[in-house]
Amino acid sequence: MLTSFPSGSQALVQGASRGIGLEFVRQLLADPTFAQVFASCRTPGSATELAALAAAEPRLQVVALDVTDEDSIASAAARVAAGTERLHLVLNCAGVLHGGPAALAAEKRLAEVRAEALAASFAVNALGPLLVAKHFERLLAHRDRAVFASISARVGSIGDNRLGGWYAYRGAKAAQNMFTKTLAVEWARSRRNVVCVALHPGTTDTDLSRPFQASVPPGKLFAPGRTVRQLLDVIDSLTPADSGRFLAWDGSEVPW
Ligand SMILES: NC(=O)c1ccc[n+]([C@@H]2O[C@H](COP(=O)([O-])OP(=O)(O)OC[C@H]3O[C@@H](n4cnc5c(N)ncnc54)[C@H](OP(=O)(O)O)[C@@H]3O)[C@@H](O)[C@H]2O)c1
Repeated sequence: MLTSFPSGSQALVQGASRGIGLEFVRQLLADPTFAQVFASCRTPGSATELAALAAAEPRLQVVALDVTDEDSIASAAARVAAGTERLHLVLNCAGVLHGGPAALAAEKRLAEVRAEALAASFAVNALGPLLVAKHFERLLAHRDRAVFASISARVGSIGDNRLGGWYAYRGAKAAQNMFTKTLAVEWARSRRNVVCVALHPGTTDTDLSRPFQASVPPGKLFAPGRTVRQLLDVIDSLTPADSGRFLAWDGSEVPW
């Protein structure tokens, strides 16, 4: 149970159809601190696990939101605003590494870089959380402590980049990190109740990591349940002084 949020808190999990986002929804619903959980995904009709959770749990409301379509983000924000005046926790989980209409792939070398794939990666991984911040900011304008956390990735760290490759994903996650830091600087002036962070979840057993799991050392691949428990512990411990930090699942600092 999260102890740093007031009873009756309201949360938004953005990118909740699968993987880490879906597991955040499950664990927040299991916590009586949260009176309401909004879960967004781009096609609610095909998010069957999320729909099953919503059918069993009146505290869960599913909202359509495609981070690559700013009008859809604005509509989702209006729908959430119709259900609550304030959010205490916003979690940006949507991310892409491979697949999709742009046939994204984790490039091994420069010759594999394609403009269309770079743009698709940046649209979801980098622009998405920033545009969500823009449209949901008004729901963070209150006096309670709030956390705005974007799930990033250690491979987006410039300082930690020793292996190279993965141009589109690394570049987009580095841009996401810069947006998170820039937002934290702005909100330290204008929204002092909001702690704004980037979080590295650790390699987690989801569709996103599946093609690369063979090279993960034994014991280093987390089940989504473990990842989310660890990230919620980090989120629960955050204070205003942590705003603008890039933290890993164990609370350690990741170099930018
Ligand atoms: N798994 C790992 O090992 C790992 C490691 C480091 C960082 N991360 C980060 O953790 C986050 C969650 O990843 P995951 O592992 O849970 O991946 P996942 O299981 O592949 O889930 C990705 C989620 O992103 C959503 N999404 C993709 N494009 C979207 C769009 N345009 N609008 C809205 N939602 C969209 C997907 O929705 P649809 O169902 O509609 O496609 C899905 O819910 C990502 O930001 C990822 O970069 C993961």
